Order: sequence, then C-alpha cells, then structure tokens
Amino acid sequence: MTQKRILSGMQPTNNLHVGNYLGALKNWVKLQDDKTAECLYCVVDLHAITANYDPTNLAQNTREITAGYIAAGVDPARSTIFLQSAVPQHPYLMWLLATMTQMGKLNRMTQFKDKAGKDKEKAGLGLYSYPVLMAADILLYHATHVPVGDDQVQHIELARDIVATFNHRYNGEHLTSPEAVLMPDGARIMSLRDGTNKMSKSAQSDMTRINLTDDADLIAKKFKKAKTDTLGGIPDTIKSLEDRPEVKNLLTIYAALNDQKIEEIVTQYAGTEMSAFKTALTDMAVAKLAPMTSEVRRLLDNPSDIDAVLHKGADKARSIAAPTLDKVMDVMGFLK
Ligand code: AMP
Ligand code: TRP
Repeated sequence: MTQKRILSGMQPTNNLHVGNYLGALKNWVKLQDDKTAECLYCVVDLHAITANYDPTNLAQNTREITAGYIAAGVDPARSTIFLQSAVPQHPYLMWLLATMTQMGKLNRMTQFKDKAGKDKEKAGLGLYSYPVLMAADILLYHATHVPVGDDQVQHIELARDIVATFNHRYNGEHLTSPEAVLMPDGARIMSLRDGTNKMSKSAQSDMTRINLTDDADLIAKKFKKAKTDTLGGIPDTIKSLEDRPEVKNLLTIYAALNDQKIEEIVTQYAGTEMSAFKTALTDMAVAKLAPMTSEVRRLLDNPSDIDAVLHKGADKARSIAAPTLDKVMDVMGFLK
C-alpha cells in the first residue's frame, strides 16, 4: 500500500457556497475514509489577503471557514485542520520556489487574469505570486493528492512544474509531484443567474449562489429566481441539455447534493415543469444543507473550541513542514 497524503485549502473570504461544497469539500470528507491516506486541510489566510479585505473581519472569517469544514464533515480527530499563517514555513518555502518559477508561466494563470481585471499593472505581487505560495502549501507536506474544483487544476500543474525544476536542478527526488483530484460529477457549479459563469464567493449578487449559511426561505427564493430558459421543462435526454446551461446546472446541483447521477435525475424528472422541479430541488437542498447550517452556528457559538482545533492542527502541520524546509535548504546549499 502506498502512503497517500491529501492536502487542500480554501481562503477565509466570505461564506462557503454550494459550489465549494460540491466541487471540493465533499471530496475532502470522502477521502478521510481511505485508510491509506493522511489528510491535511488548511485555511489559507495568507492567500486571502491577496485581494482587498477587511482586517476587522479576517479572524471571524477564518473561524467561519473552519466551522464550515467541520460542519461539512471534516473530522478534526481524523484530519489535520490548520491555519496557513500559523506555519511560517509556507511563505518561507514560497520564496525559495519563487526563484525557480518563470514569469512566463505565471503570466498564463487564468485565475490571476480574472482576479487582476483590466488594469494588470495595478495588481499586487501577492496576487501574481499566489500560485507559488499554493505550490509551497502542497510541497511542504509531500502531498500526493489535492482535491479541488477544476479551476485550480492549472495551479497544480504549476506546482508539478516547480517540482520537476527543483528535482532536476538539485539532482534528486527531493519534492513530491502532486495530482489534482476532481469530483466526477459537478466539479463545476455555475452561477444561478448565468449558466456560463461559475458560482463564486466574489460575485456581486448574492442571488447567484446558495451559501452554506442560507436558511430555507432564502434557498427557496434563490432557486425560484434562478435563471432558466424558454425551452420548457426537464428534457428526457442529457444531450438536450447541451445548449441549456442553466437547466443543466440545476440538475447537476440536484444530482451532486443527493449523491445521484445526473442521468438518474433526468429520467426521474423528464417532462416536469421547471417550477415544480425547482420546488423539489429546494426541498432536497434544504434537507441536505440545514444540518450543516445549524452545526456551523453551534460551532461559532464556541469560538475557543474552533481555535483549539486550529492550534492542535498547526502543531502537527509544523512537525511535517519544518523537516521538509530544512531538507530543501540543505540541498540548496545554505550554511547551517
Ligand atoms: P474559492 O471559493 O475560489 O476560494 O475556491 C475554494 C475551492 O472550491 C476550490 O477548490 C475551488 O475549485 C472550489 N470551487 C469554488 N467555486 C466552485 C464552483 N462554482 N464549482 C465547483 N467548485 C468550486
Ligand atoms: N488556490 C486555492 C483556491 O483559490 C486555495 C488554495 C491555496 C489551495 N493553497 C492551496 C488549494 C493548496 C489546494 C491546495 O481555491
């Protein structure tokens, strides 16, 4: 049995939404059942400051995301949950890796292009070098598998490139090449108002997403107002969904939340009017999400318990990260 090490992370910005849950978190939870795998889940607060943020909210957002991990099913007894800024080896290794990362590669990162917007000259170095910090997050732990949504695959490819460069330059298998792990279905959940754009924490309108903290009324309202098309109800074949991205997205959300295949949902609801399907979707989503929402609230009532989980996790994370950084500095020739 080969030892697998799983590592992933999310930024403590805004609330978690159903896209985060279905695209990434749900996979994190499932991977804990693999007895051959060790799981580390990081709250990447150093990444969260690469965009405008409010320092008076950072600590609270950090606790909220941690509570979201736990409420979704990440078990602190089985997985290491920790805060990136509590492990100084992350930005330290990032610097070392930055010296062997080509700007040409960073220039191709689509997330940077999206986030930097029109005026790239004004984007911060932190935002530009974000994927190098992400590579450090992964490589410090010799992670073999990284469960993420498909928008992060490009960053993992960059981490693999950096490993290849490092191992070649320093002539040995020093760092481990990570693989992305994607959800088979629903790896990408789209906005409720535009089926061609992904559901995102940073979209202006809250009506574009279902947050893990939304109550039943709000979930009902958002699905009711979700954009569809004028082509009628649920079709009877998957193929007919090709040019119906909004309808396909609602079916994808249904299938993924209810652990079914989209084919099954199409068969079950073929011919159903959209308004009736939206009602069924709402009922199912509320039933699935309500326990998570109340668990998040319960955890947030006891912030010191959340902090204790993070402190314990950081001790464990440092015990892996510190020797990796020492080894890297050794092979790079630094005087000890
Ligand atoms: P972010 O919300 O961009 O910080 O992303 C956190 C994690 O959730 C990453 O692994 C993303 O790939 C995943 N994710 C974010 N938005 C979506 C979405 N709309 N569909 C699927 N996965 C997503
Ligand atoms: N870049 C990821 C995102 O935007 C978050 C992240 C940072 C991450 N470091 C990571 C994900 C390491 C997986 C592994 O969602």
